[in-house]
Amino acid sequence: MVKRAGGALLLSVRIDHDSPRPVSTQLHVLLRELILSGSVAAGDRLPASRTLARELGLSRTTVIEAFDRLTAEGLIESRVGAGTYVSRVLEADRPRPPDPNVIALEARAPRLARATAQAIERFAERRRLPSVARAFTTALPAFDAFPMAQWARLSAKHWRGGRGDVLGYGEPVGHPQLRQAIASHLRANRGISCDAGQIFICAGAQQAFSLIGSILLNPGDRVWFENPGAIGARNSLIAAGAELVPVPVDEQGLRVDEGLRLSPRFRLAFVTPSHQQPLGMVMSLERRFALLHAAEQAGAWIIEDDYDGEFSFGGSPLPTLKSVDATGLVIYVGTFSKSLFPSLRLGFLLAPPALVGTLNTMMSRVLHGVPTSVQATVAEFIDEGHFASHIRRMRRIYAERHEALHDAAQRRLAGLLDVVPSQSGLHTIGRLHSGLSELEVARAAEARNITASPIARFSIAPVPETGLVLGFGGIKPAEIEAGVGVLAEVIEGQMRQARKLAVTRK
Ligand SMILES: Cc1ncc(COP(=O)(O)O)c(C=O)c1O
Repeated sequence: MVKRAGGALLLSVRIDHDSPRPVSTQLHVLLRELILSGSVAAGDRLPASRTLARELGLSRTTVIEAFDRLTAEGLIESRVGAGTYVSRVLEADRPRPPDPNVIALEARAPRLARATAQAIERFAERRRLPSVARAFTTALPAFDAFPMAQWARLSAKHWRGGRGDVLGYGEPVGHPQLRQAIASHLRANRGISCDAGQIFICAGAQQAFSLIGSILLNPGDRVWFENPGAIGARNSLIAAGAELVPVPVDEQGLRVDEGLRLSPRFRLAFVTPSHQQPLGMVMSLERRFALLHAAEQAGAWIIEDDYDGEFSFGGSPLPTLKSVDATGLVIYVGTFSKSLFPSLRLGFLLAPPALVGTLNTMMSRVLHGVPTSVQATVAEFIDEGHFASHIRRMRRIYAERHEALHDAAQRRLAGLLDVVPSQSGLHTIGRLHSGLSELEVARAAEARNITASPIARFSIAPVPETGLVLGFGGIKPAEIEAGVGVLAEVIEGQMRQARKLAVTRK
């Protein structure tokens, strides 16, 4: 005998008339869940569309629309003159709900590749990268200065293009117009002679680091890594199998002599020459040549991460490392996360000629690229001149915010935190000189809604410096001023506590 599903069905269906979701979609999803979960058995007869419509207070067209979708999915079938039934196929093939015991077991011990399992153990603790700036968030540019209307216009223009261009697969190595635009920008502004064929577009600098690691490193290869250094690049290289060698940095940047002492046979070096991440110094020309020489001797590659080098505001910037590279060993990586905005997830690498063929092969066979719409909009933004004027405007804004931080620090943080003047970028550091723990200060600041990352977060081996990394680029001067006040109170509070503790110990 055929069972009717009417009662159970009607009781379980709840339509939300305030939801922006169309009613027929809601009904389709609800019926689908009832069928797949087994609440309505295979072979059961559904109420007639007319009855269901009446009972639920819906139009019959709405119910028929939902039934049509279920029929197209093979979940129900109509027999002429006999009604609508839940498909018999589901008797044998209904997806079974996962067994909670099996899920718990697999979550504890998933079967992973050995390299991934080892890498996960060594990853830096990862906080979610921020989307909204507050004092003193790093990593975010000044959203308040971004020309939203211009961006929206260019994005809409793209979607009015030919369907093949807009909807089809794009060039896996990058949108040709964007590759051209980046190459001209690098020639004009970063002193790098290059052509568009050397530019490979990636999903952010982060993907560029992973790609470079995957094509150049064997498990256990030694990689010189600035200590302290960039957290994202560190994770990408570890995942690619790198054995990171923590090379100290001083006021001239990477200590090449120490790198040679620790690991003369290295395969790759990772550096941030324009603005060391996180300490902020610019790598001296002498060190740049020493690094190039050491790499040439060892047959090693160099990654130059020029993440915020566009934003120099103190004197004229030193050229990029790539611009003085006669060895062909420097792979230059750039990002639009600072120069435009991070949700783009758009970066690129400039490959030396020896790697162009390999990258063409790997990107067109394996990765297959970044959304065309994003790339095309950025290309137009650059070609129409908005990028250059945006960068000029941002430089002024960052110089102002840098000054605001310094002025406020001089007034309020003297004797508590030495905020180091920076020549470029969107962040700087403050050195604690009261013997306080940077981790404790950072924790106490967090409790007052202030972000101040301890330098230790960026370190892969102990470093002599203690201090806080302070972003200013994404924060308006008034918020910087207020944030400095709170930070001063936090440090004073920590000092009082430390004094009390010292007295009770005596
Ligand atoms: C040192 C460094 N390099 C590169 C980037 C940009 O990475 P992505 O392009 O993946 O956003 C960041 C972001 O904060 C960074 O701190």
